[in-house]
Amino acid sequence: MSELILRNLTPADEAAFMAGFQDWEGEDLNWYTFEWGPGMTYSAMLERLAQNEQGQNMPEGRVPSSMLYGFVEGKIVGRMSIRHQLNDYLLRRGGHIGYAVAPRFRQRGYARDMFRQTLPICQELGLEKILVTCADHNEPSWRLIEHFGGLLENKYFDEGDQEYNRRYWIDLSRPHTPDTPL
Ligand SMILES: CC(C)(COP(=O)(O)OP(=O)(O)OC[C@H]1O[C@@H](n2cnc3c(N)ncnc32)[C@H](O)[C@@H]1OP(=O)(O)O)[C@@H](O)C(=O)NCCC(=O)NCCS
Repeated sequence: MSELILRNLTPADEAAFMAGFQDWEGEDLNWYTFEWGPGMTYSAMLERLAQNEQGQNMPEGRVPSSMLYGFVEGKIVGRMSIRHQLNDYLLRRGGHIGYAVAPRFRQRGYARDMFRQTLPICQELGLEKILVTCADHNEPSWRLIEHFGGLLENKYFDEGDQEYNRRYWIDLSRPHTPDTPL
């Protein structure tokens, strides 16, 4: 399997980013991007992403965050959002990280690769433990979280989505399994 590189978008990635939209047709586009919208230029989106990372001009209710994309052989296969801190909403649902892999690239271990590369970044941000949440029925997601040592704090019923969600904490100071070194 080709190596996955998780990193920020750069100006040189415009073609890869635009090509990536076709992999999300029929899916919730938030899995690919929170920031890009029709009519927005790629460079304006990069500027917004940079501001999000620096915590500048943040929209109401948003915390500083990094959006990293997983590249394999020049194609974007998925993304990882890292929230640098929690607010009340994220503490209940959302947590520190959120991730998605495009449907055609799933079940190849790419989410696991992105997760593995994310944990040291969280440590660099000064986080000692991270909250990761997922829908109770989202087996790929909770398997991933448990693979990286997530300890289930609770399940709660989300009135909006009418479904149970799981809230896990991953202690970043704990040694991880041999194939998932921090
Ligand atoms: C969740 C998601 C990111 C997993 O991506 P992926 O690249 O397919 O995951 P991986 O191949 O790295 O596999 C991760 C784990 O899920 C398991 N898995 C993957 N697809 C599965 C499926 N369809 N059913 C059951 N388990 C599955 C794998 O076996 C692996 O478990 P393991 O660590 O116990 O071996 C992907 O399904 C996705 O993008 N879903 C939509 C967005 C989403 O739900 N994001 C999470 C929000 S909380």
